[in-house]
Amino acid sequence: MKFFKLFVLMAAAVVANPTLAAGDAEAGEAKAAPCAACHGPGGSKPIAGNYPKLAGQGEAYLVKQLQDYKSGKRENAIMAGQAANLSEQDMADLGAYYASQEAQSGQADPEWVEQGAKLYRGGDAANGLPACSGCHGPAGQGIDGAKYPHLAGQNAQYVEDQLKAFRAAGRNDLGDNVIKRTNDTDGDAPGMMQTVAAKMSDSQIKAVASYIAGLSK
Ligand code: HEC
Ligand code: HEC
Repeated sequence: MKFFKLFVLMAAAVVANPTLAAGDAEAGEAKAAPCAACHGPGGSKPIAGNYPKLAGQGEAYLVKQLQDYKSGKRENAIMAGQAANLSEQDMADLGAYYASQEAQSGQADPEWVEQGAKLYRGGDAANGLPACSGCHGPAGQGIDGAKYPHLAGQNAQYVEDQLKAFRAAGRNDLGDNVIKRTNDTDGDAPGMMQTVAAKMSDSQIKAVASYIAGLSK
């Protein structure tokens, strides 16, 4: 019930606040030249497993992430540098460009895929973990109107790292040097993904990340 309420609140906030500048994919293509060094051509082939694919990601979600890196709400030294000089128009154009590129699926690890599929589609009732598909869609396509990201085909290592970073965000007993992702918040309450990831074990994270890597949309 709590999740449903969050969902409605978030969707309402998005509808009531359509402040996005219109993105131009063609202009975005030129602006994306330096990004290809890490995210690959068209954002479809990152140079490392812990770097995200951007191809086929939702436009509004992409813009939000770039804004969050620039403001420091999402902490990452590499991307803070990349976003520092981007204007709102640049972000909109880059978002439109990557959203227009075809998403690439990856490979699920057969060892994890069955457990991952169960968690993704059904959650874990014993633990109060909601199904990922409720927000990210049955095929991992996301709901960009609500800024729920496209996940299908994303690099498993990247997904695993992000889930651990959301989980770490709600804890202060992990010492320094632990990466925390807090940019899912709106105000002081823990964000949706912090709440979700807090309920996940390491092996559940590994399983669902592997399943997501093998999804295609
Ligand atoms: C030097 C390597 C590098 C370059 C160049 C780079 N990125 Fe990134 N990017 C990364 C890494 C690493 C991450 C993951 C950071 C994290 O964990 O938060 C990332 C994450 C992102 C994300 C978040 C994706 C998601 O699914 O949440 C977006 C959006 C993004 N980059 C866009 C860009 C754009 C646009 C450019 C060019 C202007 C760019 N990046 C250039 C390395 C790079
Ligand atoms: C109540 C809705 C909701 C549910 C349920 C949910 N998510 Fe999310 N998820 C979000 C939102 C919203 C974001 C974007 C947060 C932000 O703005 O950075 C997100 C972001 C993510 C990201 C980061 C994507 C990226 O490109 O960096 C991953 C990975 C993810 N979710 C995985 C999952 C998994 C796995 C589950 C199921 C165990 C799940 N989510 C359940 C709403 C949800």
